[in-house]
Amino acid sequence: MAYKHLIVETHEKVGVIFFDRPEALNALCEELVQELGQALDIFEDDSNIHVIVLTGSHKAFAAGADIREMQSKTYVSAYMEDFITQGWERVTQCRKPIIATVAGYALGGGCEMAMMCDFIIAGDNAQFGQPEITIGTIPGAGGTQRLARYIGKSKAMDMCLTGRMMDAEEAERCGLVSRVVPAGQLKGEDIKVASKIASFSLPVTMMAKEAVNQAFETTLTSGLKFERRVFHATFDLEDRREGMSAFVEKREPNFKN
Ligand code: CAA
Repeated sequence: MAYKHLIVETHEKVGVIFFDRPEALNALCEELVQELGQALDIFEDDSNIHVIVLTGSHKAFAAGADIREMQSKTYVSAYMEDFITQGWERVTQCRKPIIATVAGYALGGGCEMAMMCDFIIAGDNAQFGQPEITIGTIPGAGGTQRLARYIGKSKAMDMCLTGRMMDAEEAERCGLVSRVVPAGQLKGEDIKVASKIASFSLPVTMMAKEAVNQAFETTLTSGLKFERRVFHATFDLEDRREGMSAFVEKREPNFKN
């Protein structure tokens, strides 16, 4: 499928979606977000794809929602079209593991979109920020909520109230990103990490993702109960039998998903 603002590639079991709107530093216009929803639908429907990578260019993951598109909106028009909901939330509904790999700017909606993914790998030139306050608004795609959960209240307040940018080193130190690699190696490194995940049983990776996400949605007791049930459920999987048998027999497992 051809897209106007995306480039889509597959690397064996890994589906990669590049934002490709260089003239606007990959600002997330409505058409781009709609295309993103379509690309995610296709990868989720494709049983050969186990892991999705969402990425941008060396200069920008995405510099935010498109300010030119937002400029003339009113409260009523934003409310009636449920702005920043359709398409955007498709990322959070993705059941397969989805990794954001960020080089350059991840600002406003770009930072929020990266945080909707399961984890973030950053190039050492990455710059994260929620600069909405500098243009008279506040984060609207989860920035006030997800950033506070990722990095705590003090840093989230600092970012949202000053609009400052955070570099990759600080982002790793405070838990926003899982690892930092030289920006020039980001492309190979993301496929390597995604391929590692894709080498495991697909249903098990999906269950692990669902269980970790419960930690953000429920109490510890309910989350632990959810985890225990899913853990028990894995005992019915052929891939669980294969994984444990392979360990005992000192051989590589052959997962069949
Ligand atoms: N929307 C629309 N266009 C954007 C954009 C955005 N978010 N960010 C950058 N662009 C465009 C610029 O208008 C410019 O286009 P022209 O060449 O046609 O003028 C082009 O991308 C290159 O940008 P700059 O010339 O500004 O590049 P720079 O290197 O000097 O600065 C930058 C880079 C610091 C990222 C700067 O572009 C910037 O501050 N961008 C806006 C960041 C921002 O405020 N993001 C939050 C948006 S609001 C939001 O996302 C709401 C939400 O929560 C969902």
